[in-house]
Amino acid sequence: MDIKLLIEEALKARKFSYTPYSRFRVGAALLSRDGQIFTGCNIENAGYTPSNCAERTAFFKAVSQGVLEFQAIAVAGGPEDALELDYCAPCGVCRQVMMEFCDPESFQIILAKNPEEYQIRTLEEILPMGFGPKNLERKR
Ligand code: THU
Repeated sequence: MDIKLLIEEALKARKFSYTPYSRFRVGAALLSRDGQIFTGCNIENAGYTPSNCAERTAFFKAVSQGVLEFQAIAVAGGPEDALELDYCAPCGVCRQVMMEFCDPESFQIILAKNPEEYQIRTLEEILPMGFGPKNLERKR
């Protein structure tokens, strides 16, 4: 996995974020198991609740194109006027969406300030005891 490339793609996607309300711009780059990159940005709405986070935009683009298996996601976000970015961790709703499609022990969330400064967490670390598809499997 080329971590720097994934972060650069997240930073590029961040430029497309539509954030007239929060002015907090986030970009994400999702790497599928077969090596494709799906980017996403946050897209806000005057109705507020229809807003979508960068991470979910990336996941929904991939899933809507038939891709269901993933290895990692890079996330970069901060206020539009920030000179440098701080780490931006996925919201609870996005963590739950990751839980649907990713293996909690191996899926990597790369929180990036820039291509040189980043932290890596597994989904299990940021969503302990998550509820996912496995919990709905019937045992008999
Ligand atoms: N946001 C994301 O897109 N991803 C995150 O990881 C955190 C928050 C968005 C949602 C909203 O458009 C703005 O950032 C402020 O919450």
